[in-house]
Amino acid sequence: MDRPIGILDSGIGGVTVLKEILKLLPHENYIYYSDSLHNPYGSKTKEELFEYVDHILQFFLEKDCKAVVFACNTATALVIQDMRLKYPQVIIVGIEPAYKMVHDYANYKKTLVMATPATIHSEKFLNLFHQYDNGNTILLSCPNLASYIEQGNNLEIEKYLEEILPKEKIEVVVLGCTHYPLITKQIQKILGNVIFYDGGKGVALRLKNLLQENNLLTNSTFGTLFFYDSSFNSEKEKRFYELLK
Ligand code: DGL
Repeated sequence: MDRPIGILDSGIGGVTVLKEILKLLPHENYIYYSDSLHNPYGSKTKEELFEYVDHILQFFLEKDCKAVVFACNTATALVIQDMRLKYPQVIIVGIEPAYKMVHDYANYKKTLVMATPATIHSEKFLNLFHQYDNGNTILLSCPNLASYIEQGNNLEIEKYLEEILPKEKIEVVVLGCTHYPLITKQIQKILGNVIFYDGGKGVALRLKNLLQENNLLTNSTFGTLFFYDSSFNSEKEKRFYELLK
């Protein structure tokens, strides 16, 4: 069997990234790691995330992964640089809030960036924000939102969004957490017909290019997918495959 690609998130949110990857690379072998034991990542410190993600990287290296995708904005924002330094032998690709897309395709439009507290306050994200600041952007830290999505708690999600979303007219929403593309309908219900940007497609393309450059693309004509949850929660696995459909 060809060497697999490891995909990690704090839970099932990374499925939104995996879907984009599968469109470009349908014949690779994948191991998806849902770290529900430590969910949510968005309220953790850098030190805590280093420990959790380091553990997952070791798990992936034991499985001989040829590449690892951080399908989690929070993990990318806080520890991807450290992990690249610690594990230079493996390709590491990470998702980040697609704020550059606003600059490229929707500059000057009233923009809302939604992400976890850890991402919004991270140096990595703030650097990106200051580089492309359109002077018309609200940064919204959304504590607990990823947890409600993880639990599939629709009532709680709607109540939360009613409370937290701005009342003014928004034109573009950057979904800076991989769980959020799962609730675009609920966001739209409150904000109306906004344009959504997320980093999923960009990550998929970057992964494909890096595998190509390193001669690591599979020749196989079918791929496999293995789901692993750190708290062995079979409900997670069920929801993951439902969302993947
Ligand atoms: N899905 C993750 C992200 O993209 C983390 C959500 C969380 O566990 O707080 O940021």
